[in-house]
Amino acid sequence: MAKDVIIALDFPCKEKTLTFLDMFKDKKPFVKIGMELFYAEGPSIVREIKSRGHKIFLDLKLHDIPNTVMKAMSVLADLGADMLNLHASGAIPMMEAAIKGLTSKGASRPLLIAVTQLTSISQEVIQRDLLINTTLEKTVEHYALNAKKAGLDGVVCSPLEANKVHQTCGKNFITVTPGVRFADSDAGDQVRITTPEKAKEMGSDYIVVGRPITAAKNPVEAYERCINDFLKN
Ligand code: C5P
Repeated sequence: MAKDVIIALDFPCKEKTLTFLDMFKDKKPFVKIGMELFYAEGPSIVREIKSRGHKIFLDLKLHDIPNTVMKAMSVLADLGADMLNLHASGAIPMMEAAIKGLTSKGASRPLLIAVTQLTSISQEVIQRDLLINTTLEKTVEHYALNAKKAGLDGVVCSPLEANKVHQTCGKNFITVTPGVRFADSDAGDQVRITTPEKAKEMGSDYIVVGRPITAAKNPVEAYERCINDFLKN
């Protein structure tokens, strides 16, 4: 099973993104393009970063009726991203439609993973705002199983839940985990967080790291620290 550190390119425009990537010289980190950059620059930013040699997780978190998601996925399949995602709360028919849309362009398709619960969501919010009367962990486990049933490759979850997801869905079901912080850095708006070492111990396959790298004084050093802590030690 491949394991890697994915840098969240949460930048407002192409210029800032490319300036950031240029700092890495001939290193080509796996990167995540999210809503901010995609909405600012459009699909060409995916093609451009791909052509520079990066693997891309296109994090657009689709959530709509099955037919709309199927058609959107079939368009996204052409962009050259290596990983795409949607919200598991869209339910099994929507996830199955997404796979159908992705495979409509040929047998080889990008990985498709489902967001279980956002790492900014707490147990209190689940009960108070969403009126869900079970534990956050149970919803993550249940959503992960739904994603597996629908034929997806894995989920986005907190590192704290990666182990449970592997126990429930098998070790080859990918866990992609944001909410990663160095022990000495700021949590920001993330609630369910952990360090790269701990994420490794807990069985994450990919960690997604944004601000601890993008806002660091030396982003390349911060990236290497993540790689060391997550992959090597
Ligand atoms: O800066 P930070 O490390 O918090 O960035 C985390 C990235 O992962 C952001 O781009 C955020 O949108 C994304 N993400 C997340 N929680 C999820 C899914 C995606 O934080 N459940």
